[in-house]
Amino acid sequence: MSTALIILAAGKGTRMNSDLPKVLHPIAHAPMLEHAMASGRSLAPDHCVVVAGHEADQVRAAVTEIDEDAIVVVQEEQLGTGHAVLQARAALSEFTGDVVILYGDTPFVSEDTIQRMIAARSRADLVVLGFDAKDPARYGRLVLQGDALERIVEYKDATEAERAITLCNSGLMAGNAQQIFDLLDKVGNENASGEYYLTDLVELARGAGHAVAAVTCDEAETLGVNSRADLAAADAVFQSRARAELLDLGVTLMAPDTVYLAYDTIIGRDTVIEPNVVFGPGVTVESGALIRAFSHLEGCHVSRGSKVGPYARLRPGAELAEDTHIGNFVEIKNAQIAEGAKVNHLSYIGDASVGKETNIGAGTITCNYDGVMKHRTEIGARAFIGSNTLLVAPVKIGREAMTGSGTVVTKDVDDGDLALARSAQINKPGLAYKLMDMLRAKKAKQTKG
Ligand code: UD1
Ligand code: MG
Repeated sequence: MSTALIILAAGKGTRMNSDLPKVLHPIAHAPMLEHAMASGRSLAPDHCVVVAGHEADQVRAAVTEIDEDAIVVVQEEQLGTGHAVLQARAALSEFTGDVVILYGDTPFVSEDTIQRMIAARSRADLVVLGFDAKDPARYGRLVLQGDALERIVEYKDATEAERAITLCNSGLMAGNAQQIFDLLDKVGNENASGEYYLTDLVELARGAGHAVAAVTCDEAETLGVNSRADLAAADAVFQSRARAELLDLGVTLMAPDTVYLAYDTIIGRDTVIEPNVVFGPGVTVESGALIRAFSHLEGCHVSRGSKVGPYARLRPGAELAEDTHIGNFVEIKNAQIAEGAKVNHLSYIGDASVGKETNIGAGTITCNYDGVMKHRTEIGARAFIGSNTLLVAPVKIGREAMTGSGTVVTKDVDDGDLALARSAQINKPGLAYKLMDMLRAKKAKQTKG
């Protein structure tokens, strides 16, 4: 059976109090909408139609970046969820299969739940996803008649007795595309909100003699985001799931609650993550690595057996080969650190390559930026860079070469050479004693006077 997704994302999201459309607010560094699209992707849908409205151009740009095959249609006026679904009709006019309707602000519906909705299509023409709410608040209520779903009543239109129902509407539905569009033609807007409700589909379908069923899922999956507080709660849900998955995969998290993960973080088995580590997007850490406390990683790759931190920062393009050591207060950006190399203290290595087993002394800086352009630093294998060396790029340091502490390197250094670029030291015998005596005498005179 071929399937299509319709994802509703036209709403303004007033309560977010933001210039950014609600569905583009990130959860674990990916727009909420991307999470929703990902949960539908398990169906391998033939089409994915996103209904945009508020700030449609921004939404369109984001959708294209996530999935260039997705279709964005615009709902000029937000006249209700039923009206929103109808906007997808033209894009799916040739499509004869099933649609699953998802909400862009309900990011966590699981693949399994969507599969169960599709499976329920064998016994019903229309399938609605419901959940038992701890606090049903303003959700629409599912009114059952025995096992069958009779209708959905919106909170605003519900009687006291109906409001007492705790089985709520998630908003998700599945059914034959053309049948849904034809029934939606009949939906009116005579209700408390003056909107065209998607939920009216249930009664209309039953009236046309179709079978309607409700499938239920855990409330955590239907969590909707309407405010910044909801967004934070959704992120927390994502984090606890992602941490649990890593623990299952054999990753040690010493203090799981303090580790922040991105939607795409990949960590190998037997890697240990100490407390308070933050993962931005695009990080892969291989097996058996150690990421020590308070490190921040994004867009980087850490190979087997490497040690990072505490207090290290790996920025995009940091590529650590096996058994490297990156220590405290070290920043690595767009740089390849070869096997066994060490950058242990207080350094900035940017736009650079560091050869195998090379040691970079404390406080070494690659001066990669001249104010306009970025330049590369290349350091060969088994080199020894003395503490507080400044490498003024573009510059090359050969294999097994050395630089003296405090050297400012402005010229290439050949294999095996030692570069020294600092003023020569002069010692003045006894001058320290003399100087101190002079200063103390001066102070004594001032205090008397
Ligand atoms: C809707 C359901 C309610 C359900 C709840 C679950 C209806 C009538 N009510 O109510 O039964 O319990 O979701 O969260 O369907 N949207 C558009 N265009 C519009 C209106 C909405 O694209 O014209 C989108 C919104 O961006 C959002 C989704 O549809 O992603 C839901 O809209 P919202 O206004 O939040 O509906 P609720 O009142 O929460
Ligand atoms: Mg809502």
